[in-house]
Amino acid sequence: MTESIKEGLEGIIAGKTAISTVGKEGLDLTYRGYSIHDLAQNATFEEVVFLLLYNRLPTRNQLSGFIDQLNSLRELPAALQSVLKLIPQDTNPMDVLRTGCSMLGTLEPEDGHRTQEHIAKRLLAILPSMLLFWYQYHQGKGSIETTSESEKTIASHLLHLLYGHPATADQIRALDVALILHAEHEFNASTFTCRVITSTLSDFYSAITGGICALRGPLHGGADEAAMEQISKFHSVEEAEEGIKAMLSKKEKVMGFGHRVYKYGDPRSEIIKQWAKNLSSKTGSQVLFSIAEKIEEVMFKEKHLYPNVDFYSALTYHFLGIPTLLFTPLFVISRTAGWCAHIFEQRANNRLIRPIAEYVGPLPMPYIPIEQRT
Ligand code: CMC
Repeated sequence: MTESIKEGLEGIIAGKTAISTVGKEGLDLTYRGYSIHDLAQNATFEEVVFLLLYNRLPTRNQLSGFIDQLNSLRELPAALQSVLKLIPQDTNPMDVLRTGCSMLGTLEPEDGHRTQEHIAKRLLAILPSMLLFWYQYHQGKGSIETTSESEKTIASHLLHLLYGHPATADQIRALDVALILHAEHEFNASTFTCRVITSTLSDFYSAITGGICALRGPLHGGADEAAMEQISKFHSVEEAEEGIKAMLSKKEKVMGFGHRVYKYGDPRSEIIKQWAKNLSSKTGSQVLFSIAEKIEEVMFKEKHLYPNVDFYSALTYHFLGIPTLLFTPLFVISRTAGWCAHIFEQRANNRLIRPIAEYVGPLPMPYIPIEQRT
């Protein structure tokens, strides 16, 4: 009998990484040794992606070269455009990215002609194009142009494709910060999925597609959309207080709260909350922000639970005018940076990931011929 099973692998060290620290005493959340607070304050998303992929902060020249490379990789192949057009309008956009990523793997396979770095950059550059192309096509906007060079960064490109016109500097920075905060998080469920797939020597696209599948669930990436739906159900702080207490008394989960590792608060939450607050005053939607703060207060009083990154990210996206169904796909676009770094790291020192289970099934039984079974 195995004595120390940890359900959900809680607290189990399942491997080594030099990419990030999550909730380590004295370290909190760092990417390659840099504090998330410094990165969210000073860096751009592209700088963070470079840091994650190449293990160093880029020089000015390296960064502009990297951004130019990403811009040159935004184009959607014609066959992928055709597939995106065929995906029904009411499809969950996470399924669009899952299918799009897998399809790209058939068109541009990892077959020795393309380096893993190239595929990582291609995916980071093309995922926003894929998502917005499918979305705008089904909004009746026709086939939108996804390669415009005028928008240099992923955040500005994405918002331009969504709005149909350039976003403001504040809007771009808010999204950039959200992308930075979601870019990497050690051995979370989706990253671990990518590493398991990579450990079998499977290809890059399979690993990223698996990551998308794992991120889709509401206990992981899908929590941002669920949190938004929950916040928007309430019309006042009083209603929110009552409603959340009622949910807790029925033992229902309040999405956007709690975390497997951070038991005393998610460092990303305070950062993104400031952006939600800032945008709420600019868009005149203070009621929603007050409702969210009331939910936070009740969750702390009743359960000692803190908001995780998803709670105030949801509000930030909402105030940016992003439709709720696109929230989790934005998480994909950002987390692809971390997934790629983990695929590189797994490959650099690979061993098949294959744990064992404690058997709790029946003891050995004699085989019963089919004619004797009742
Ligand atoms: N609402 C109400 N109760 C909660 C919540 C919540 N959001 N989170 C945990 N609890 C309670 C849970 O009911 C349980 O109570 P009891 O001991 O009385 O049965 C206790 O806290 C422990 O919960 P757990 O689910 O066993 O804890 P876990 O470490 O397995 O779960 C979690 C971590 C994130 C899955 C969980 O907190 C949760 O389901 N949160 C809501 C979903 C969510 O916001 N997910 C995003 C996670 S952060 C971003 C990301 O990684 O994608």
